[in-house]
Amino acid sequence: MMENQNLVEAAFKTGKGVGWGDQAACLFCAVGRFFRPGYRNNLVSGWLLQLRDVVPKLETGARVADVGCGHGFSTVIMAKAFPKSHFTSYDFHPGSIAQAKVHAQQHGVTANTHFELAMASNFPAKDLNFVTFSDCLHDMGDPLGAARHVRQPLKPDGSWMVVEPMAGDRLEDNLNPIGRLYYAASTMICVPISLDQPVSAEFGAQAGFARLKDTIGLGGFTRVRRATETPFNMILEARP
Ligand SMILES: C[S@@+](CC[C@H](N)C(=O)[O-])C[C@H]1O[C@@H](n2cnc3c(N)ncnc32)[C@H](O)[C@@H]1O
Repeated sequence: MMENQNLVEAAFKTGKGVGWGDQAACLFCAVGRFFRPGYRNNLVSGWLLQLRDVVPKLETGARVADVGCGHGFSTVIMAKAFPKSHFTSYDFHPGSIAQAKVHAQQHGVTANTHFELAMASNFPAKDLNFVTFSDCLHDMGDPLGAARHVRQPLKPDGSWMVVEPMAGDRLEDNLNPIGRLYYAASTMICVPISLDQPVSAEFGAQAGFARLKDTIGLGGFTRVRRATETPFNMILEARP
């Protein structure tokens, strides 16, 4: 983050953003490593089990999209645990998609994974049973456009898991060590990359459940709930 300080300082003055691809080269790997322990320790053994009817589908064979996949660790972990399901993962950053493919190879999950360059608001998919966004919806310029788009290829009984940084709805709820960490990342990374994209919603890493729920609801999901949480993440479940 510090390597990028000059770009962020300039962006504060102009009101423009900083592109995700213009971040320091080590950031992409660092983000993957920062989130991976949380996914490894919670995704399969905790979070997915809290979602309605998801694990039985994954066990028998589901079509899944993992959007904003970055270096692909969430995909790799799910693909290993559910070999009968197929995971197509999207991200708009070419370097991350290339690295995610390498990770899939290293972890022996190339047979049931596919990685593709695409925006969250127009990734090509159909007949999906399950969609996941891990620590990325708030980074997007157009989270509402993404929500509307997820609704299209999702089957009527499908669901969307949105993993977001833990945050309260009010500033004063976030004045704690976790909030401090995320506000720093938000200022240096999340808000600038959202501002750099069309719509520029700039949710930031402390968007909070109420705002996320509203946006997901406006996207066409009638049932949105907070399924579970850890000190670092809240896990939302959205169904049509
Ligand atoms: C904080 S990283 C999280 C990456 C990964 N999900 C993880 O947990 O390690 C946010 C990711 O969202 C991607 N991203 C941001 N805006 C996007 C958009 N509009 N469409 C697709 N991907 C996007 C970035 O390229 C980046 O990989």
